[in-house]
Amino acid sequence: MTQKKRIFSGMQPTGILTLGNYLGAMRNWVALQDEYDCIYSIVDLHSLTIRHEPKDLRQYRISLLAQYIACGIDPEKCILFMQSHVSAHAELTWILNCYTYMGELNRMTQFKEKAAKNESNINAGLFTYPVLMAADILLYQTHLVPVGEDQKQHLELARDIAGRFNGLYGDVFQIPEPYIPKVGARIMSLQDPESKMSKSDSNQNAFISLLDPPETIVRKFKRAVTDSETVVRFDIENKPGISNLMSIYSSVTGKSLEDIEREFEGKGYGDFKLAVGEAVAETLRPIQERYKDLLASRDYLEDVMKEGAEAAGYIAGKTLNKVYRKIGLR
Ligand code: TYM
Repeated sequence: MTQKKRIFSGMQPTGILTLGNYLGAMRNWVALQDEYDCIYSIVDLHSLTIRHEPKDLRQYRISLLAQYIACGIDPEKCILFMQSHVSAHAELTWILNCYTYMGELNRMTQFKEKAAKNESNINAGLFTYPVLMAADILLYQTHLVPVGEDQKQHLELARDIAGRFNGLYGDVFQIPEPYIPKVGARIMSLQDPESKMSKSDSNQNAFISLLDPPETIVRKFKRAVTDSETVVRFDIENKPGISNLMSIYSSVTGKSLEDIEREFEGKGYGDFKLAVGEAVAETLRPIQERYKDLLASRDYLEDVMKEGAEAAGYIAGKTLNKVYRKIGLR
């Protein structure tokens, strides 16, 4: 029997997931779990780069674990763990920091965006965040990393760091490949279709939360910013709002963009927005039901975390040991 290829990915526990997180990444995580050896992490160390309330973080971590499982991640098939439970992540980060150039980190667009948004707290962690992400991925000898479009640049950096390290010390790390969906890789804000849908948006109408009730979802889509035409047509340049809604509709129904244009020929935006809202609400309904049950099963979630940390720690420890040996720390 050939060994399954390894997948690693993670999300930050900074609130309830959005439809963007779900369509851009989570759905692929679920789809890939039978075919691959999957490791999914709640990357809590990453969320310290933005000032936070300890009690919120505590709650978001456990809530995110419940959201992973509610979305269909099966702890029987995958390793599910909390990043801070495996100390190898922080240890490898320090080492990789010494193999990453300031110039490379300076080019990261997400750093520039986040620094602009958090002018009073541009900390060193925000700057070296992509190195921690590289450590996450490289510790597990990962082949594929399912993420949305916005993480592509970070992944390229992880590949560069791994290549540089291997060049110096021999084959230490597997070089990871990104796995980005064709549709849904960049879900845009419903209020400003030129910017990414994000859970930190101050305008609640800009994003769909995984736990929004159906009426709220339909209402948010009804209010989505579109354009002054009336034709449902995919044209990102001139019709970013409608194109975003079409991507979402295509993602949740499996219909092609051409089929959607045909379906709404001669109909107005009102009909289209309602259809998108209802399709999304229908997709999220079973997830929301499972989530409620899971949050009530606190012992089960604790067990999953404990087992996950052990399994992840074992694999990560092996890689870290090899790194220490190669660089002369053993
Ligand atoms: P995070 O927590 O911001 O987002 C989690 C995942 O959701 C995707 N995503 C989107 N996809 C489509 N449209 C959107 N509007 C949208 N918003 C978010 C992201 O691309 C991501 O896949 N740095 C990462 C977390 C991380 C990680 C890792 C990922 C840390 N270590 C190792 C992979 C491997 C982040 O902040 O994702």
